[in-house]
Amino acid sequence: TDLNAFISGLPKAELHLHIEGSLEPEQMFAFAKRNGVSIPFASVEEVRAAYAFSNLQDFLDIYYAGADVLRTEADFHDLAFAYFQRAAADSVRHAEIFFDPQTHTDRGIPFGVVADGLLAGMARAEAELGVTSKLILCFLRHLDEDAAFDTLKAAEPWLDRIVGVGLDSSEVGHPPSKFQRVFARARDMGLKLCAHAGEEGPPEYVREALDLLRIDRMDHGNRSMEDEALIARLAAERMTLTVCPLSNLKLCVVTDLKDHPVPEMLRRGLHVTLNSDDPAYFGGYVNDNYRALAEAVGLSREDVVRVARNSFEGAFLSDAEKAARL
Ligand code: ADE
Ligand code: ZN
Repeated sequence: TDLNAFISGLPKAELHLHIEGSLEPEQMFAFAKRNGVSIPFASVEEVRAAYAFSNLQDFLDIYYAGADVLRTEADFHDLAFAYFQRAAADSVRHAEIFFDPQTHTDRGIPFGVVADGLLAGMARAEAELGVTSKLILCFLRHLDEDAAFDTLKAAEPWLDRIVGVGLDSSEVGHPPSKFQRVFARARDMGLKLCAHAGEEGPPEYVREALDLLRIDRMDHGNRSMEDEALIARLAAERMTLTVCPLSNLKLCVVTDLKDHPVPEMLRRGLHVTLNSDDPAYFGGYVNDNYRALAEAVGLSREDVVRVARNSFEGAFLSDAEKAARL
């Protein structure tokens, strides 16, 4: 359709992308082979068939298992560069990518192997594809705050190349309050702050992310829509929400894309962006997310333009950098 073609060519920023979640099954086999790692699947088809999730934890179990094929700096470089090639094909001009260092350091892969590989892939993407990017270190919320402090310490030599910190993994039972001290430290160090909130967790977790973590940007935020005062506050504070429609569908955060909260979020003046989260696991990159949602809920061209503009406005870039990317 016309709108699909318009979406394809529209310059956009992607603000919610877990680089480990861009590991395509074909790459999983290639990395497993070159690293001599065995995986519990016989074929790419078998892997894809396993990607039927009924909630966030179902997905996380298979996502952390998949990450085990990533061993060398070259693996992290190749993973990142392959993502940027797909992003460039979707007219993504700028991406702010999450990584989960604890998933790797807890398997004995040094922090620097992960960070140097990703940073090399990012530098190559800027030089060869014209896609700029920033790196965001996520703390795994199912682990304790001391582990997050250890990770921040391990990251110290790289912090001039890391724009901020995030909070991901199993949400329910691991409220933002658990990480209040480490987020305060990160803020003192000059890092930007974001957190997954209201994906499966209640509106109270969204409030904690705002009041206790003092985040600059919110990942997902869906369940904010259950709380009128919270909606008004997010609008007043111009909080950017990094919403991920195909992720929400695959993780059963919504049962049908037709029921997705984005139209209501836009009506209420929230600063919505659309993103792919873990595209290799959820069946689509950023344009697939724009298109599937636009078709399901009937977004207009103006809605789509607004969302793309929000993606640059919500980026951790200076005003001059934002203008240059548009
Ligand atoms: N890690 C990767 N994707 C995630 C998501 N959608 N929610 C929480 N943690 C994640
Ligand atoms: Zn996410």
